[in-house]
Amino acid sequence: MVKIAPSILSADFTRLSDEINSVKSADYLHFDVMDGQFVDNITIGLPVLKSVREITDMTIDVHLMINSPARYAVRFAEAGGDIIVFHIEAETPENTRCAIDAVQKLGKKAGLSIKPNTAVEALAPYIDILDTVLVMTVEPGFGGQELIVSTLPKISELRHIIDSRGLDCEIEVDGGINQKTAKQCISAGANVLVAGHDIFSAQDRAARIASLREAGY
Ligand code: DX5
Ligand code: ZN
Repeated sequence: MVKIAPSILSADFTRLSDEINSVKSADYLHFDVMDGQFVDNITIGLPVLKSVREITDMTIDVHLMINSPARYAVRFAEAGGDIIVFHIEAETPENTRCAIDAVQKLGKKAGLSIKPNTAVEALAPYIDILDTVLVMTVEPGFGGQELIVSTLPKISELRHIIDSRGLDCEIEVDGGINQKTAKQCISAGANVLVAGHDIFSAQDRAARIASLREAGY
């Protein structure tokens, strides 16, 4: 079953509570953290996560697009994140392993993300211990971009590795997801679709979420 994760980066922040309520039929709430260093944009962080945690029971999927993410992974888990995903490009192998372990010891889920130009092989040393892998289908930094088609084979590669090893690891895709690209990602093997612009630009968000979920059938 395909899961949908609306990205609040595309929500109207002046009415964030109502916006979150409008997507409550989704599976996860995607929370994009950017530091102006790892990516060229600055978004939201710990205080906003704590407030969002107070107003929703949804599973919060935190996507850290920051340098030195191991320093912050546990803090985002303690602030209310349920799934903590960070970029493999932003950390050393030793810190990466420690942060995954620390997040999971709190009973939370841990994931790693790869940018469009990072190969699947980079994830190989960690894949057996991860709860999720996030394949960026655009360059991280901004919502509303077009999906980069050359990222799709990485999804199939990951699906093959995960299924052949019998792992319980989700494959999440993020960037440029709409009805058409959702189908492409699902047929390549993704099971969690992040969507910002496509969902928050819709009048009827529940209907848009349902149609994205059904895109693979
Ligand atoms: C981009 C973020 C995404 C973004 C997706 O760096 O990680 O989560 O919000 O937005 P759309 O779906 O509009 O491409
Ligand atoms: Zn994201």
